[in-house]
Amino acid sequence: MGKLIGILVPVLALAQHGKDDEKARHLFMGDAARIEAGRKIYAGGCAGCHGPEGMGGRGPSLVERGAWHPMSDEMLFKTIQNGVGIMPAAKLPEDRGWELAAFVRSLTAPAIEMKAPGAAAAGAMLFWGRAGCSACHRIGDKGGFTGPNLSNVGRSSTLPKLRRSILEPDYERTPGFERAEVVLRDGAKLSGLVKDRTNYQLQLQLKDGTLRTLDMKQVEALDLQSTSAMPGDYGARLSREEITNLVSFLRQQSPQ
Ligand code: HEC
Ligand code: HEC
Repeated sequence: MGKLIGILVPVLALAQHGKDDEKARHLFMGDAARIEAGRKIYAGGCAGCHGPEGMGGRGPSLVERGAWHPMSDEMLFKTIQNGVGIMPAAKLPEDRGWELAAFVRSLTAPAIEMKAPGAAAAGAMLFWGRAGCSACHRIGDKGGFTGPNLSNVGRSSTLPKLRRSILEPDYERTPGFERAEVVLRDGAKLSGLVKDRTNYQLQLQLKDGTLRTLDMKQVEALDLQSTSAMPGDYGARLSREEITNLVSFLRQQSPQ
């Protein structure tokens, strides 16, 4: 009897497998060593067109999740091996091709699922200390309100995106963090973040986190700032190692 079950189970598993083939994950996906190997192939043959971190260049960004995420592992592998449009066929040995596909896939995986270099503890010290990040960002129940809450950023962001968020805050703005200076009809001045705006109402979040809803009839002047409140010079103020440490700290942020 025991033996019979032993045979039955794999047969069922096989039948299941056939059904889900489209979504089947290739063995190399998420494997840190294969991804590392893929990273080296990428640097040599792909970075010239897709950018050193996959942000795009002559070729499209490989980091923007929406653009190509629906692609199955098999499709990704074939695109790389056979080329598309002006992109040349890579024609790599099978395992090398899959290593490269695993690396490209890792660019859109949640940061927390990926291995990353750097010292998270040193990144935490920078975040809560000298780099001043916590003046604007909250993690858990500590920190400021000027920037998005980063308590779940290890899940909601990818490694390349985390790095770019620190180096180029204006690249991708987050809705709800547009700064505004407001002068009211009675002369009072307010500044804060525009959380909501219609023709009739303006909802501002003040520095201490409180929300203030203003009737547009009260508003004399409204000055919207086009650039991010986040300083754009961290790339100059922090060393490469410090940025890597910050990314390593942020990638761990996820409730529990
Ligand atoms: C000569 C420049 C060039 C090189 C080299 C190159 N690519 Fe591309 N790649 C492109 C262009 C351009 C496209 C868009 C093609 C199209 O849709 O017509 C593209 C498309 C892709 C896509 C599909 C993206 C999508 O949104 O559909 C993937 C994945 C990709 N490249 C990965 C790679 C990898 C991995 C390598 C290294 C082996 C590589 N590319 C080398 C230019 C290049
Ligand atoms: C003066 C306030 C301020 C400081 C200081 C600041 N940020 Fe930001 N940060 C912001 C704002 C505002 C945004 C949203 C981008 C925008 O303006 O639309 C943001 C966005 C981000 C994002 C993207 C969030 C997301 O939703 O994906 C990350 C990550 C981030 N900051 C990390 C940091 C780190 C790390 C530091 C310290 C090195 C830092 N920030 C310092 C204000 C700040």
